[in-house]
Amino acid sequence: MKNNRNRQVILKSRPADIPQADNFEIIESDVPDLRDGQILVHNVYLSVEPAMRGWVSNVANYSEPVRIGEVMRSFAAGEVLQSTHPDFKLGDKVMGMFGWQEFAVVGPAAVTRKVREDGLPLSLSLGVTGLNGITAYFGLLDVGQPRPGDTVVVSTAAGAVGSAVGQINVYFDNTGGAISDTVLRHLAVGARVVICGTASVSSWDPWPHGPRAERHLLVKRARMQGFVIFDYAPRFEEALARLAQWVRDERLRYSEDVLEGIEHAPGAIAGLYRGENTGKRLVKIR
Ligand SMILES: NC(=O)c1ccc[n+]([C@@H]2O[C@H](COP(=O)([O-])OP(=O)(O)OC[C@H]3O[C@@H](n4cnc5c(N)ncnc54)[C@H](OP(=O)(O)O)[C@@H]3O)[C@@H](O)[C@H]2O)c1
Repeated sequence: MKNNRNRQVILKSRPADIPQADNFEIIESDVPDLRDGQILVHNVYLSVEPAMRGWVSNVANYSEPVRIGEVMRSFAAGEVLQSTHPDFKLGDKVMGMFGWQEFAVVGPAAVTRKVREDGLPLSLSLGVTGLNGITAYFGLLDVGQPRPGDTVVVSTAAGAVGSAVGQINVYFDNTGGAISDTVLRHLAVGARVVICGTASVSSWDPWPHGPRAERHLLVKRARMQGFVIFDYAPRFEEALARLAQWVRDERLRYSEDVLEGIEHAPGAIAGLYRGENTGKRLVKIR
């Protein structure tokens, strides 16, 4: 797209632990022309999530690390400005892996989905009707299997996933560490422990030592199960339809923590790990 400059947040150096603002740099470049089958997305919201620490780490993870000099990998939501792909047209609202940048030229594989929920803000596609809400939905309902009258405990209940789960028959764990050490001592018989995240553990190399959960699980005949949301991809539509309807009916409330301006993106992950956010952390760039 001629004459349009693109501000991009690139990875400048690899963090030893939690990514800090000075691990990133904001640069400007030209928006490239589209090749056949590509779309140009004008981002509105950039996502900020704890998993980004893993995406910039050299330690083996479930995805390749972002390379130095590359645009920071992230989910984002925006509008299609140009398209040479038959499935997308000007004005379509889309959510996908568009990176921390104003404009993204991508193929259809980068698009997670078109955002079609009537009457709901675009930002929700990165939160309660995005992977966070879907994670809460399957983690709680499928893996946690709550029953009427159960007590549900959620670590990081103020966060994006946690605030979508709700209120110790089920322990929905986003942190590991000291919080889990305490909660595991209070499991009910037959409890289900959902391992969703490990935000409190700063490094898995070397493998950290800590209190042993086995005895608590044995005595309480409890079940601990890890899950990764991508395994549920074939059922995303089901979750999305229900989450969107619950939001419209005000049965599911959500909160967002919105930083204004792309210049806030570099420091946004560190802030997340300081617990600054209540709800889904986003960077609004226009
Ligand atoms: N399994 C999956 O498929 C899947 C998918 C999505 C997300 N997740 C995981 O779900 C968890 C929540 O993700 P999110 O996007 O909703 O993030 P989030 O909860 O909005 O933000 C992370 C929160 O972690 C807490 N935290 C940071 N450092 C901590 C520490 N040392 N000890 C305890 N708590 C700490 C902070 O909450 P406080 O204010 O409470 O300190 C912070 O707000 C993450 O662990 C993420 O990796 C898993």
